[in-house]
Amino acid sequence: MEFSPGLRGVVAGETSISTVGKEGTSLRYRGYDAIDLTKNNTYEEVASLIIKDSLDGDEFKEAFTKFYIAAIEDEALSKYLEDLKSLHPPVGMHPMALLRTIVSGGEEIDSDTEIELVARISATVCFAIASYHNTDTNLLSDKYLVASSLLPNDASDEMLEALDDMLILYAEHGFNASTFATRVTASTRADLTGAIVSGIATLKGELHGGANERAVELINSFNTVDEAEQGIYELLEEKKKIMGFGHGVYKVQDPRSPVVKNWVEQLVDNDFSKNRFEIAKKIDEIMDTEKNLFPNVDFYGGLLLAELGFEVDLFTPIFVAGRSVGWAAHYFEQREQDILIRPAAKYIGPSER
Ligand SMILES: CC(C)(COP(=O)(O)OP(=O)(O)OC[C@H]1O[C@@H](n2cnc3c(N)ncnc32)[C@H](O)[C@@H]1OP(=O)(O)O)[C@@H](O)C(=O)NCCC(=O)NCCS
Repeated sequence: MEFSPGLRGVVAGETSISTVGKEGTSLRYRGYDAIDLTKNNTYEEVASLIIKDSLDGDEFKEAFTKFYIAAIEDEALSKYLEDLKSLHPPVGMHPMALLRTIVSGGEEIDSDTEIELVARISATVCFAIASYHNTDTNLLSDKYLVASSLLPNDASDEMLEALDDMLILYAEHGFNASTFATRVTASTRADLTGAIVSGIATLKGELHGGANERAVELINSFNTVDEAEQGIYELLEEKKKIMGFGHGVYKVQDPRSPVVKNWVEQLVDNDFSKNRFEIAKKIDEIMDTEKNLFPNVDFYGGLLLAELGFEVDLFTPIFVAGRSVGWAAHYFEQREQDILIRPAAKYIGPSER
């Protein structure tokens, strides 16, 4: 049997949900171009497309609103969240560990509709993230519902639209590590909640969901464009990898990156963020000329989330908020196919003794 480390290049299953990186760059959800979806549709419509192949987002919106309001009114849930946050003082529980725990502890509801099952998990995740803001987050926008559940009540329409686009671009990405983990769990006929918990646990790792955090930390480590220029050349000299560049599947361009970069450009409004954006563009320019590498979604994605007011350790939880619909769609597809995923291993231990 042929061995491919990390399953690179191995076709590990069949899917109708998305295609990633055809001709080196495109991303399509059920045949629709994801970039067009950011222009023409909302996250709720795209979530419905990904889950049940329909761009009518009404059922998702209704279910999400119901569960989000129930979460706001659930005093025991709020107390549980606060208790979890105060674990591991002085820093508290990492928001990703908190999400994993809170989703895991949720009751599996009895519902016939896939949308309801997913919307409950999605609303729980968004409520937990919102609980980190110090201002009220209970006003829901009709147009950008999920985005509004994550941002404070005074967020502008522009901010809501930017986050809505980010969530669309995070929603689905083929057989990446967390989605594959979700499918492995689904393949044993385990429950949806357990499969999503596998996804969250897998996304937490820095080789997967954490690159946006590292990219912003890198940008923030420089005070000026000149400092950044010198610093990046030094890192490249030392053969260090620059976080937020390159991609395992896209070979020409990450199609999500220009959308995110445009939003950063539109939202920067003070000297600090303008300077940060200039530093980012300089790093981008050097990576292009020196390494012929393009920014992936995480490079400007981290900056966008920072611009929207999220702390760095909430970046990956926002990724969860977007991706939970992709994981769920893969869960349902895998259950439908009903094939246990059980690969073979190449034995490299001692010979018989
Ligand atoms: C994403 C990633 C793993 C894709 O890897 P890949 O396509 O398999 O490419 P490789 O890691 O094999 O790298 C190929 C070459 O490009 C270089 N390279 C790739 N990404 C680089 C980066 N971000 N910074 C500097 N050099 C990079 C490698 O050093 C290697 O150079 P070499 O041939 O001289 O050894 C890789 O680009 C990376 O680690 N990027 C940074 C992390 C990141 O942003 N992850 C989020 C992905 S969405």
